[in-house]
Amino acid sequence: MTDYLDDLFSLAGRTAVVTGGSSGIGRGIATALARAGAATVIVARGEDRIADTVAELQAAGCTAAGVSGDLGSRPGIRALAEAATAPFGEPDILVNSAGINIRPPFADITEEDWDATMTVNALAPFLLGQRYATGMASRGYGRLIHISSQQAHRAFVGSGVYGASKGAVESLMRSEAEAWGGTGVTSNALVPGFVLTPLNARLQEDTGQIAALAARTMIGRNGLPSDFAAAAVFLAGSGSSYVTGQSLFIDGGLSVH
Ligand SMILES: NC(=O)c1ccc[n+]([C@@H]2O[C@H](COP(=O)([O-])OP(=O)(O)OC[C@H]3O[C@@H](n4cnc5c(N)ncnc54)[C@H](OP(=O)(O)O)[C@@H]3O)[C@@H](O)[C@H]2O)c1
Repeated sequence: MTDYLDDLFSLAGRTAVVTGGSSGIGRGIATALARAGAATVIVARGEDRIADTVAELQAAGCTAAGVSGDLGSRPGIRALAEAATAPFGEPDILVNSAGINIRPPFADITEEDWDATMTVNALAPFLLGQRYATGMASRGYGRLIHISSQQAHRAFVGSGVYGASKGAVESLMRSEAEAWGGTGVTSNALVPGFVLTPLNARLQEDTGQIAALAARTMIGRNGLPSDFAAAAVFLAGSGSSYVTGQSLFIDGGLSVH
């Protein structure tokens, strides 16, 4: 029984890089991958939250390390791509969860807002995926996992440039699936609905809106970072080798109303 489940889902011997792994959905996914056996590198800017996450994982018996850097610029992305290979070598699994949503009113969106959002949310996944997937393909195993948004599919509370960036992420995911097809490298996206994380702390102050969003799901509550654990382990593991180019909605049914 254990061998059977291990063949499908175990990540023992694998190495993972999780951007945004120090908070919210990324932290939930990093925890899941590490607990499933992957040596996991947490990538973000803030050193305190990285250290806290790594300490928690190590206390649970996991192999984990942290790398601090900024995915908000091209040199920053390139530097982090190299630095993230230092702790455990080239990754087998890349999870792109780092993201920003600055939400200016549409008419006020500046070119700087556009560049900042597109750089972290879409360019970093492209450059990191390109950097790592060549090696993954030569080793015959790789998993690119993106965190998209329902805003890739429809407008929602002022989608603005954020929604555009997530549309780019899902198209990038399909392009990667095509580009790396037949090499053992897959690319897929998890599509959250509304998840209670620091990203939307300001929105959470409006308890009426939070309750209304929960009511719009079929399950009857908003998402939690732990809701992404099992799907991430599945997409990272051997059992998903015939799944690529797909968007998997983890949204309590929000998107099908
Ligand atoms: N929460 C939701 O309802 C929701 C819904 C749909 C999609 N998503 C997506 O899910 C992903 C995770 O969101 P979340 O809600 O978990 O957000 P979160 O709790 O705010 O976490 C964001 C993570 O990204 C890191 N990060 C942000 N900017 C960065 C930069 N320039 N360089 C490096 N790391 C950076 C943050 O660490 P530092 O700030 O320390 O750098 C943090 O670890 C995002 O892509 C988001 O768009 C979230």
